[in-house]
Amino acid sequence: MNLLITGGAGFIGSHVVRLFVESYPNYNIFNLDALTYAGNLQNLVDVEEKANYTFLKGDITDAAFLEKIFSEHKFEAVIHLAAESHVDRSIAGPMAFVATNVLGTVNLLEACRRHWAGDYAGKLFYHVSTDEVYGSLGEEGLFTESTAYDPRSPYSASKAASDHFVRAWHHTYGMPVKLSNCSNNYGPNHFPEKLIPLAIHNIKSGKPVPVYGKGENVRDWLYVLDHARAIEAIFHRGKVGDTYNVGGVNEWRNIDLIELLCDVMDEKLGREQGTSRKLITFVKDRAGHDARYAIDSSKLMKELGWAPSVTFEQGLAKTVDWYLQNEQWLAEVTSGHYQQYYAQQYEAR
Ligand code: NAD
Ligand code: DAU
Repeated sequence: MNLLITGGAGFIGSHVVRLFVESYPNYNIFNLDALTYAGNLQNLVDVEEKANYTFLKGDITDAAFLEKIFSEHKFEAVIHLAAESHVDRSIAGPMAFVATNVLGTVNLLEACRRHWAGDYAGKLFYHVSTDEVYGSLGEEGLFTESTAYDPRSPYSASKAASDHFVRAWHHTYGMPVKLSNCSNNYGPNHFPEKLIPLAIHNIKSGKPVPVYGKGENVRDWLYVLDHARAIEAIFHRGKVGDTYNVGGVNEWRNIDLIELLCDVMDEKLGREQGTSRKLITFVKDRAGHDARYAIDSSKLMKELGWAPSVTFEQGLAKTVDWYLQNEQWLAEVTSGHYQQYYAQQYEAR
């Protein structure tokens, strides 16, 4: 099978690429990535020489480029992860989200439609999406696959639009599609603009750890390899036309999570307990900050037998260990443009 994975140089994409390259030597895996600030080929150094792996640098907003690679490589399946993924960046500059997440997704759907030309036997377009399309929960309840869409940030609106386009290509043109909507991921290779890696980086460097508002917002955290395993299961065994919610059954208030992380870091760094908690700094809230996300993954668990493989404590310890052992990775991604982003995002808060 010629399998195109988009966004494979990013956080989740790199774990998905590695899992597929290592587990399916009979698949030719093509990783298409524009290498934006979030894409990093260092995430894949261990697979770049494998015979079944090819990297294609390009942009999904470029329809002519997609036409060229689809002609050359005759892809039979696509796992689409490429996206602008950070909510704060979508608030500061929404147009890049419209371009990549909406237009880029439609470009890919159109490339598949042209090249598969109605012969959909053995073909699949798998779209990786987010729980944020469902909006924000109160204190009770969970997002299910039938929860009405209610996106509230430019990021989630762009992902919701992309989900609608994918379903439209299924219903209108008969394209075989699958979708999954996942909760917050964490783990190795996570870009330090997101809460957990940003906090690890700041705690390590003794810098303030910014917590938005009162830190009472709730997220449902899933270890990134467990998301990759869910994608693997849905790709192979999920029902065509269906959506699967993926979550960690692991809800945390931001402030509780950051306090736990501070304690784990104190232990790992040999600091006296309580030292890192002193770095916690409450800052101005995110505009339109969604209060709570929580996912009901029972469909995925019952139909495909998937379950998270690590507890949060295990996953967090593995994550902190990875960042402490990969100082060079962290130093490289936090140099240059990151400094400018950090100043713009946090100095005025
Ligand atoms: P990321 O920002 O770490 O990586 C995105 C990748 O896409 C990068 O490698 C980037 O270079 C590439 N990319 C961006 N624009 C591109 C373009 N125009 N053309 C080609 N490549 C482009 O993102 P992530 O956190 O790994 O998320 C991957 C996917 O999973 C996204 O679709 C996201 O919406 C979804 N998702 C993420 C989470 C999460 O917690 N991170 C949870 C649920 C769903
Ligand atoms: O739910 C899935 C989504 O999770 C994905 O679709 C997104 O791509 C991913 O970025 C993530 O979105 P969040 O906005 O939930 O993640 P983030 O790490 O940016 O923030 C997590 C929580 O922490 C959120 O309530 C905002 C808060 N936060 C974040 C940052 C960066 C802070 O308090 N301080 C911060 O500095």
